[in-house]
Amino acid sequence: MKNFKTLSSLCLALTTLLNGQGALAADEPWMADARAVATAVPPKLLQVLTDAIAKSSAADAVTVCQDTAPRMAKAASEQSGWQVRRVSLRNRNPKAVPDAWERETLEDFDRRAAAGEAPASLERATVQTVDGKPLQRYMRALPTQGLCLSCHGPADQLAPGVAERLKALYPDDRAVGYSLGQIRGAMTLKRAP
Ligand code: HEC
Repeated sequence: MKNFKTLSSLCLALTTLLNGQGALAADEPWMADARAVATAVPPKLLQVLTDAIAKSSAADAVTVCQDTAPRMAKAASEQSGWQVRRVSLRNRNPKAVPDAWERETLEDFDRRAAAGEAPASLERATVQTVDGKPLQRYMRALPTQGLCLSCHGPADQLAPGVAERLKALYPDDRAVGYSLGQIRGAMTLKRAP
């Protein structure tokens, strides 16, 4: 038993080393918890957007997203104890800018997707030390599906009225021009255990 423990901690140390930047490969319970939160929110938001598009238009759904997305992240944070938000290398919400680890992880996701990994299951976790205390961090990629392109696609694939609405609400928007399956951004979670 003791040998097993030593061996598994050695494996963990090795995988940590091999992944660089302290990315953990071995699955720890806290990662499953983060994964559950990160995978629960996007389908809920997608449903709200799908309904809004069906009821009104994609242009109106842009306004719905502006209101609903941060509200859902806040609710998930309050319910789960994780700080939940979305980030992107080409953000729309001016606050959705990645920090250093998030940026490096998004770049890692792009590389792994290009190398053939399924974009929807890309994830990365680490424990950082901040002010002498551990901080658990988890990210999960958000690839585009067909519907996303009506608000994030190239100009000729944006739904009618969307470009105008985006210009009014997000004058510095960088989140258009995406193709199907491309990684649009990621869910990012952190928690001090
Ligand atoms: C109805 C238009 C619309 C659709 C459809 C849509 N989005 Fe967005 N998306 C937005 C808006 C508006 C924002 C900015 C929300 C905010 O202010 O927080 C946004 C923000 C994001 C962000 C946060 C980072 C950033 O750039 O601000 C991600 C990630 C994202 N969208 C991914 C997706 C994915 C993946 C899909 C499809 C499953 C999708 N979106 C579908 C309008 C849309």
